[in-house]
Amino acid sequence: MYITVLGSAAGGGYPQWNCNHPNSRRARAKDVAAPMRTQSSLAVSCDGERWTLFNASPDLRQQINDNPILHPHGGLRASPLKAVVLTNADVDHVTGLLSLRESQAFNVYATARVQLVLAQNSIFNVLNPQYVARISMSLEQSLAVSTADGAALGFEVVPFAVPGKVALWLEDASKGDNFGSVAEDTIALEVRESGRIKFFYIPACARMTPALAARIQGAPLVFFDGTLYTDDEMVRDGVGHKTGQRMGHMSVSGAEGTVAALSHLQISRKIFIHINTTNPILIAGTPERQAVESSGWEVSFDGMRLEV
Ligand code: MLT
Ligand code: MN
Repeated sequence: MYITVLGSAAGGGYPQWNCNHPNSRRARAKDVAAPMRTQSSLAVSCDGERWTLFNASPDLRQQINDNPILHPHGGLRASPLKAVVLTNADVDHVTGLLSLRESQAFNVYATARVQLVLAQNSIFNVLNPQYVARISMSLEQSLAVSTADGAALGFEVVPFAVPGKVALWLEDASKGDNFGSVAEDTIALEVRESGRIKFFYIPACARMTPALAARIQGAPLVFFDGTLYTDDEMVRDGVGHKTGQRMGHMSVSGAEGTVAALSHLQISRKIFIHINTTNPILIAGTPERQAVESSGWEVSFDGMRLEV
């Protein structure tokens, strides 16, 4: 199975459009230690020909242009992109669908909750229903991902709920501390080929639970939420008022952080993805980048290619 990281940054990308944080300035200055990154998405394929997107970022048009695997071939209107699997309704994960207009056949998989969000926003009707099927995924049910004409793409996903929060733009403050979030709002994907677990994709997660730790124990590969290095870094650096916890993301560092939480697990490759424009692990050579690397983690980058 082949995996290409199309985008490694969190919502807003790196640098985010309105961010003048030193991190973001280094990227704009074309510092080689601080390469720009598009918003988080993977391309996955078993045959190297037909590809499935895990999330569709607003940067999808650029991601397609930057990655020859996704270029049209074999016809004047064609695409190797055969399916899209969504893990939540974040702006950074769904708005790429709008670039996939108009009459190209592919399947869109998401939980019923996220499908409802798409259905309630008629702008997504740019995906012509004659060509694009919207298929609901059930939590904990293995699903064989297929092309629009029903051909199996060779792998299965098992969607499962992880601690998280409803997308920012769907928050309902009247519904209390969790803004009306339900389990189907934030999912992760267990990806299998011929019944064997190949990798986990967990781009958003608010905390580690015993069940999640047990599930990913022994995995060959895990992509994990790398949004913030420290919970209060946006507040501390004066660029925002929200903590990671408020946004539904556990932090990389700290006693409750991701590096500590996964340190006792046997996982062959651990890779951070969905990394915020303020996170020092974006930049090669920082003490924080060195700390995660010496703890056995990798930091994904746009164009990173893996085979599992
Ligand atoms: C998130 O992951 O928390 C969201 O992408 C935030 C946002 O939409 O800006
Ligand atoms: Mn996001």
